[in-house]
Amino acid sequence: FQLEHLHTLVALVEEGTFEAAAQRLRLTASAVSQRIKAMEQAAGQVLIQRVNPVIPTAAGDIVLRHARQVQLLEGDVATELGAGLQPGGRTSLPLAVNADCLGTWFLDALAAVPAESGAVFDIYREDQEHTTSLLRSGTVMAAVTSTAEAVQGCSSARLGTMRYRAVASPRFVDAWLGGVAGTAGLGTAGLDTAGLGTAPMVNFDRRDDLQHRFLRGIGGRATDVPRHHIPTSADFARAVVLGLGWGLLPEQQCLTELGDGRLVELAPGHPIDVVLYWQRWNIASRLLDQVTDAVGRVAAASLHP
Ligand code: ARG
Repeated sequence: FQLEHLHTLVALVEEGTFEAAAQRLRLTASAVSQRIKAMEQAAGQVLIQRVNPVIPTAAGDIVLRHARQVQLLEGDVATELGAGLQPGGRTSLPLAVNADCLGTWFLDALAAVPAESGAVFDIYREDQEHTTSLLRSGTVMAAVTSTAEAVQGCSSARLGTMRYRAVASPRFVDAWLGGVAGTAGLGTAGLDTAGLGTAPMVNFDRRDDLQHRFLRGIGGRATDVPRHHIPTSADFARAVVLGLGWGLLPEQQCLTELGDGRLVELAPGHPIDVVLYWQRWNIASRLLDQVTDAVGRVAAASLHP
């Protein structure tokens, strides 16, 4: 594939429409379309589904991944030549991360990447159990994931453990759990497991099974409980503090509130641990190395080992 064609494919997928890609590349939409057709002819397969926004086909994903790798390496060379900060000289880094990491420590890592790198970040929010499919498809170059096993063409390194605690507001505990949860020394013995199986629960989205995992772990079961779905990390935490329901919060989002009494821990000594890994494309890229270093450092400071 020709270099310009690879750039065109990336622009098309990132922008979503032929018109927007044309604008970004300062071409006409029909020139963009011709380049994509030329690539499809070379590949002997359809690469792009013409819907709004466009979606790469399985073959398109393969070429897209190749295109992004080429761009990444070109960006490295440009930076080394001192051209990294020229307009248009920026390298876009698509990364996948789960909401709770994004909402707690991940931005600190991005902020620690040297500004001279000329990187712009393109973040995909996805559940930690599903970020690897974005890696596999070539949509992102690196991902925070709970999957240890390296995706083909990637390397995997352990970042640490995100510790979640089951918490609720004191008023919620009084109303639904007989006010005994978290009382010093009671542990789960004092927890009204049956009450918890009927009390309103806060879930992040339909993929969030942390609350159910916790319930199973303490021998409870949620039969027909009211479930809130609050799909942003900080708002999820706020919903729990405000007493909408109980839920599992990362320590980063509940230790202060547990300290000042705005939250009560339902079962002290029964955290849910989520071990996280950083998987990245296995190519020698200085920029990707810099991001990997920063992510590793900030994760080590913010997570349990
Ligand atoms: N796994 C999802 C994410 O971080 C949601 C996590 C659910 N959070 C929670 N506190 N229960 O993107």
